[in-house]
Amino acid sequence: MARKLVSEFIDIKSIDSLPKAERDLVKSAMEAAGKAYAPYSLFKVGASVLLDNGMVLSGNNRENAAFPSGSCAERTVLSFTGANYPENKILAMAICALKDDRVTNEPASPCGNCRQLIAEEEDRTGRPIKIILYGEQHTFIIEGIDALLPLRFRFDRFSG
Ligand code: THU
Repeated sequence: MARKLVSEFIDIKSIDSLPKAERDLVKSAMEAAGKAYAPYSLFKVGASVLLDNGMVLSGNNRENAAFPSGSCAERTVLSFTGANYPENKILAMAICALKDDRVTNEPASPCGNCRQLIAEEEDRTGRPIKIILYGEQHTFIIEGIDALLPLRFRFDRFSG
């Protein structure tokens, strides 16, 4: 039997129609991208999360001469958030990338590893995370990690 995985997201040209909290979240991600440490790829990424207490926390990619030791922006902010605000839920995450110090036209999309980390955070808190991938010409709005990582491994499917 053939079964289909359907993945949907919204592609908008401008973020003007988003609620202020989400526009601010995008701004934070842009600022965080500017502070990235990316001397090897010169590709600077920022990721910001909005918590259920209204706080915004940000991270960026931190590269390393030993390449696998580097961290993506998403991993940076998720680690910090989980370590310092374990009781809070993440409502939304905005991601933005700079190439040659300009926001990319198409948005950067999280790598497979980071998708898995976002998924764990959703599972842990029981709440979908709205993902806003910001680009100069297109912004993608994704209503939860299922759309980015369909049919993912979930340990709870096999326990008990
Ligand atoms: N990178 C991120 O930080 N987040 C993404 O969503 C995509 C890629 C980083 C990893 C590396 O430092 C650089 O961008 C180039 O891959």
